Amino acid sequence: MAETKEKLECKKLIVDMEKCVFCKACVAECPMRLYYVKNEELLLSKYTDGLCMECGHCVAVCPSKAIMLKELPLSEVIEIAEDVKLPSYKVLMNLIQTRRTIRQFKDEALSEEMWSKLIEAARYSPTGHNDQLVHFTVIRRPEVSKLSQEITKNIKDFIKLYEDPDKKDQLKSLFSKGMITMMKGWLPILKNVLKASDRGEDYWCWNGELMIFHGPKYIMNIVQDSSLAATHVMLAAETLGLGTCSLGLIMMAINQFNSIAEFIKFPKNHIVGYALSVGFPKVKYYRVPARQPAKITWI
Ligand SMILES: Cc1cc2nc3c(=O)[nH]c(=O)nc-3n(C[C@H](O)[C@H](O)[C@H](O)COP(=O)(O)O)c2cc1C
Repeated sequence: MAETKEKLECKKLIVDMEKCVFCKACVAECPMRLYYVKNEELLLSKYTDGLCMECGHCVAVCPSKAIMLKELPLSEVIEIAEDVKLPSYKVLMNLIQTRRTIRQFKDEALSEEMWSKLIEAARYSPTGHNDQLVHFTVIRRPEVSKLSQEITKNIKDFIKLYEDPDKKDQLKSLFSKGMITMMKGWLPILKNVLKASDRGEDYWCWNGELMIFHGPKYIMNIVQDSSLAATHVMLAAETLGLGTCSLGLIMMAINQFNSIAEFIKFPKNHIVGYALSVGFPKVKYYRVPARQPAKITWI
């Protein structure tokens, strides 16, 4: 790490000391405590290269635009306008409460522009340690209906195996204990919905397009990161006249059925964090269903 009077620099960031007004906002803000002051001089810890997670808070908080992350240049930083418009609590609650899980989508594909807007909303979600390692796999029409048919086939094969008393060992070798246990409760439901699949209905994705959120297994927060990205997409979708459905069954299918993982080119070292179907709702709701009271512990 080189330190000069003009700039403070390491592999990750540069502080332009000519622009620095010595307000120490970066010192107070850095979550890793990498900025410090000694003898009235702003300094960077020798651990900065290793510890800086490039969250950009120092860049965001600096009143004189003196700090730049080398990999994420200032030209890509968004200035926050003084009169930036944020939704009121009431408007946000309207969005939150009127969002419904959509299970009836029109036969219409999203435009590329809509997909990029949704992906942009996902890209700006927070991630643990600012890892930003959530991957988005988008399965568009008509591939999504092929995927649904493949899931139906896999579920039928699974049920056959599950119900064959002579194939218990094969079942155990092919599927996780969790999946086999879960099936006890799910079997009657699946048998019923397979009838809908046989009628040509898309029970798994509800005739929407699919967005799978996933990332490397070794990332501790990947499921939470994925879920947050998916939440952004759910809410952004509403503002675009789109609807979404969370798809636990698709997550299960990717985890349990090799042919499904192969179909979506799912990386071997990844886990699924979330799955959403997205499309144009074909249904109108007149009211917000009641919710249970919040379960709270105040300490
Ligand atoms: C993690 C998760 C998994 C879900 N999986 C499915 C699914 O596989 N299929 C489905 O139709 N709905 C699924 N849902 C939707 C829930 O059933 C729905 O959110 C709940 O009934 C409340 O309805 P609302 O979203 O309209 O408020 C899932 C929801 C969550 C949060």
